[in-house]
Amino acid sequence: MKPIKKIGVITGGGDCSGLNAVISAVTKTAIRKYGIEVVGYIKGYLGLYQNDFIKLDMDRVSGIMHEGGTILKSSNKDNLFNYRFEDEDGTVEYKDVSDIAIENMKKEGVDALVVIGGDGTLTSARDFYRKGVPVVGVPKTIDNDLPSTDVTFGYNSALTAIVDALDKIHTTAFSHDRVMVIEVMGRHAGWLALEGGLAGSADVILIPEIPYTLKSIIDKINERDADGKNFSIIIISEGAKPKDGDVHIREMVEDSADSERLGGIGEQLTNQLAKLVDNHEVRYTNLAYIQRGGITSHFDRSLAQRFGVSAIDTLMQGGAGKMVRYRGRQIAHVSLEEVVGKGETGETSKGGAKMVEPEGQIVGAAKSLGISFGD
Ligand code: F6P
Repeated sequence: MKPIKKIGVITGGGDCSGLNAVISAVTKTAIRKYGIEVVGYIKGYLGLYQNDFIKLDMDRVSGIMHEGGTILKSSNKDNLFNYRFEDEDGTVEYKDVSDIAIENMKKEGVDALVVIGGDGTLTSARDFYRKGVPVVGVPKTIDNDLPSTDVTFGYNSALTAIVDALDKIHTTAFSHDRVMVIEVMGRHAGWLALEGGLAGSADVILIPEIPYTLKSIIDKINERDADGKNFSIIIISEGAKPKDGDVHIREMVEDSADSERLGGIGEQLTNQLAKLVDNHEVRYTNLAYIQRGGITSHFDRSLAQRFGVSAIDTLMQGGAGKMVRYRGRQIAHVSLEEVVGKGETGETSKGGAKMVEPEGQIVGAAKSLGISFGD
């Protein structure tokens, strides 16, 4: 492999807290430890295609580590292997423009990439590696649904936002004897609702992996009333579904690697409960993008920086084609081929996503505490 003298950094997919911490650690390690140059592509792979980048140096990354978002901006569209073109007459065509991106890298002397993203972004990273580009991936997503790593960065900060919201919602729920429905993100995996609900003392946790019935939810509300509690907190994943129904799709984004955007199931449940529960008012809150922003949690700051350092070490030690990961409190690696679309044995996975195990320890603990899953 050609010696690496200059690397490019890409942040792709939905943003989350911790991206700037990775950018900062990658840049500092590349410059201080290996004396190599760093550039950051603007808006994910779009920047690679349009050759739009900024130089990253010690000054540029100073003071960004704790901040949410990404100084490089992000996009969850722009798959360069299937890129969308629209003519003036509205005709849509998809083309593979990955060679243009590779030519841009050669022109600027960029020898390797650090790609920070979730499954869609890392699938393209794998595809660039297959075309001979030295790439190392860094696992990001609030959803925590990437296989082959115990946890992604961004997840802990999102949980912090959820628990903070549940603490606030508790007091107003108590004051008004209300049933409160809180929808959280997570796509088809229930991690955010499960751990957010457990840490935030939810009474009912509804996740995609355990379909629910209205009767079971109402039974729990009645049980709490009988105990003199008179309010109930229900946290619901955007990907949750009733036993006799399907997921709620909010929008289709055609040129995205994962075109379905979920959302709205919490509002639907609220309207249903409002008709069936006559001794309480039922109110709805969608935490939406609040989960993706804000100051990065201490866990994510540490994890993201450790990932960033390891991504550069891995590249410089000839480990292209890998993703850094967190396993048993250690930073390690796994091949991108293994991560993308598969996952390891032992993880409950659906279409490549790491799912909550309905019979697993966390659900078991929550049930022991009397939390209902609506099943
Ligand atoms: O994958 C991260 C995520 O925030 C999901 O939890 C959510 O379903 C999706 O992105 C929202 O995407 P968008 O930013 O396109 O609305």
